[in-house]
Amino acid sequence: MKKITIAIDGFSSCGKSTMAKDLAREIGYIYIDSGAMYRAVTLYSLRNGIFHNGDIDTEKLKAEMNNIHISFRLNPETGKPDTYLNEVNVEKDIRTMEVSSHVSPIAALDFVREALVARQQEMGKEKGIVMDGRDIGTTVFPDAELKVFVTASPEIRAQRRYDELKAKGEEASYDEILENVKQRDYIDQHREVSPLRKADDALLLDNSHLTIAEQKAWLADQFAKVTAEA
Ligand code: DC
Repeated sequence: MKKITIAIDGFSSCGKSTMAKDLAREIGYIYIDSGAMYRAVTLYSLRNGIFHNGDIDTEKLKAEMNNIHISFRLNPETGKPDTYLNEVNVEKDIRTMEVSSHVSPIAALDFVREALVARQQEMGKEKGIVMDGRDIGTTVFPDAELKVFVTASPEIRAQRRYDELKAKGEEASYDEILENVKQRDYIDQHREVSPLRKADDALLLDNSHLTIAEQKAWLADQFAKVTAEA
């Protein structure tokens, strides 16, 4: 069967990655979490003196972009891809609150986006890819055969993030997470370069009241429809 490109965009913490990852595994496609790439650049910046009291030294980061190598490798234990920064597994380190609260300004920098979008397009040039993020259907793969835009209320998304962190045994405050979710929504939607928006030809999925199994079934259905037409 001819392989297609699948773009899944939407707000933070609305279960995009879970459904994208599961679909990719079931249909034998590559899965790329583009948010992990922005998080890896943020982690690098936090560890390499690019942040000064919350301000970003953009000249230093620009000069160092070529030293930031991000890759994904399948973790045989979880069956899911882990993120590597310069050959070191940073999957856990990029999911902390510290990275979450510094990532939006990094993702708003035009030279960071240009570099990461180019890498993402390279990864998808053979098709057979499911990529999730904010600008996949609008900027990275505007010609994707299947585009989905996922949304859910901020309160529901904060609760999901809270449950996720708790399940991993990490400290979490619901109010802090809700504040972070709302702040990121605002920055993601209002930044100048590639703001978060639904592509005109994307299917809208509000999963506020869907279980993970229901969203997975919905996505599998959309995939079946698109590939039957191709
Ligand atoms: O999906 P996530 O929460 O892991 O994404 C982390 C941040 O990266 C989020 O604040 C928005 C940004 N991002 C982006 O600007 N473009 C993408 N394609 C993916 C993520």
